[in-house]
Amino acid sequence: MKNILLSLLLLTFASTVFGERIVGLPAVKFPSDNPQTPKKVALGKKLFNDVRFSSTGTISCASCHHSNKSFTDGQPQAIGIHGLIGKRNSPTITNSAFSTSFFHDGRRKTLEEQALDPLTNPIEHGLKDHSTVLNVIHSDFSYLKDFLTVYGITAEEITLGHVAKSIASYERTLLSGNSPFDQYFFKGQRPVLSESAARGLRIFRRKANCANCHEISWDHALFTDNRFYNIGIGFGELRLILPTFLEHAKTNVANAVSNLSSNQKVELGRFAVTHQLKDIGAYKTPTLRNIDLTAPYMHDGSIKTLEDVVEYYDKGGDSNSFLNPAIFPLSLSKQEKTDLVSFLKSLTSLTTQ
Ligand code: HEC
Ligand code: HEC
Repeated sequence: MKNILLSLLLLTFASTVFGERIVGLPAVKFPSDNPQTPKKVALGKKLFNDVRFSSTGTISCASCHHSNKSFTDGQPQAIGIHGLIGKRNSPTITNSAFSTSFFHDGRRKTLEEQALDPLTNPIEHGLKDHSTVLNVIHSDFSYLKDFLTVYGITAEEITLGHVAKSIASYERTLLSGNSPFDQYFFKGQRPVLSESAARGLRIFRRKANCANCHEISWDHALFTDNRFYNIGIGFGELRLILPTFLEHAKTNVANAVSNLSSNQKVELGRFAVTHQLKDIGAYKTPTLRNIDLTAPYMHDGSIKTLEDVVEYYDKGGDSNSFLNPAIFPLSLSKQEKTDLVSFLKSLTSLTTQ
C-alpha cells in the first residue's frame, strides 16, 4: 500500500514538473538553471519572431524556422539578410528539446548556447555584435515589462543570458509526437496506418536498417540517436583531395585544414568540432518527424524529395573512404521503396505552439 501511494505520489510529481507526455515522446527535461514557465515561453516566442534583431530589420529566427514548415524554410540552403545564401540547410527545431547537440556538426551543446549564434552570423541576422539586441529590448517598454515579470529584473539587469534562456524555453515547447505512426506503434491502433506504411515501418526497422541511426525505442521514438555519421552527402570537393589531406593531417592537422579551400572546409562536417579523422564528412542524425513537411533534405539541401532520399540509400550512398558501414546497397523492390516513403509520411503531426 505504502509503495502504491509512493509511486502515485511520484507520478503526480513527474506529471506536474514535466507536463503531460505526448504519445511517442519522452518527457522533456528542463535545465536546473532555466526552469520553464508559461510567461518565459511567451517571451521567448516574441524574441524568436522579432525582425528588429537583424542588421536589415527583416530577419527573425522564424524567417528560417517557419511554424508552417515544421520550423524549416523550404530552401536548399538558408537565406539570410540581403538574400545572402548560407552553406547549410535550415534544420527543423521541432523536438530539439531532446537533442544532445546542436547544428549539423553538433558544435553547440545546449539550446541556450545555440540561441545567440545566428544573431551575429554575417549571413543570417548579420548583427555586428549582440549589443543591438539589448538596445532594442531597452527601447521597448513591453519587453522591459516582460523581463521584469519573468525574471524579476530591471532594464539594466537584462543580459544576453536572459534572452538565450527565453528563446530556449520557447523552443522546448515545439514538440511533435502522436502521429499516425505513434498511434499504430505505441497505442496498437492498427487501422491508422495504410498497409503500405505498415510494411514500410517493417522495412525501416529491418531490411533497410534505417532505425540503426533513426532510432525507435520501446516507449518513444525520436528517430535520431544524436550521433554523427558519414553517409556520403556533400563530399564532392573533399573526395578528390582526400589522400593528400590525410597525408598532411598525419603530421599536422591544423596545417592540413588551413590548406583547404573554404568549400572544402565546409565539407569536413563533424571533424571541424572533434579534429578526429573518423568524423570527416559526418553529420548529426536528424529527426524524421514531420519529414514530409521539411524538404529539401540533408545538411546541404541536396536531395529534393523523399523518393530521392530512398533511392540514395538504396544504392548504398555515395562511396568515400569514410562512409559508415551501416550504409550499404539495400536492393529494395519498387514496392518496398513506395512502402518506405508511405511510412515516412506517417510521421507527420502538428507541432504544438
Ligand atoms: C538565415 C536563416 C536562419 C536564421 C535567421 C536562423 N537560423 Fe537557426 N539554423 C539555420 C541553419 C542553416 C542551421 C544549421 C546550421 C549549421 O548546422 O551550421 C540552423 C540551426 C539551428 C538550430 C540547431 C538545430 C539542430 O537540430 O541542430 C537551432 C536550435 C536554431 N537554428 C535556432 C535558431 C534561433 C533561435 C534563431 C534566431 C536567434 C535562428 N535559428 C535563426 C538557419 C537559420
Ligand atoms: C548510419 C546511420 C544512418 C542510417 C542507417 C540511415 N540514416 Fe538517414 N540520415 C543519417 C544522417 C547522419 C543524416 C544527415 C546527413 C546529412 O545531413 O548530410 C540522415 C538524413 C536522412 C534524411 C534527411 C533528413 C533531413 O531532415 O534532411 C532522411 C529522410 C533519412 N535520413 C531517412 C533515412 C532512411 C529512410 C533510412 C533507411 C533507408 C536511413 N535514413 C538510414 C543517418 C542514417
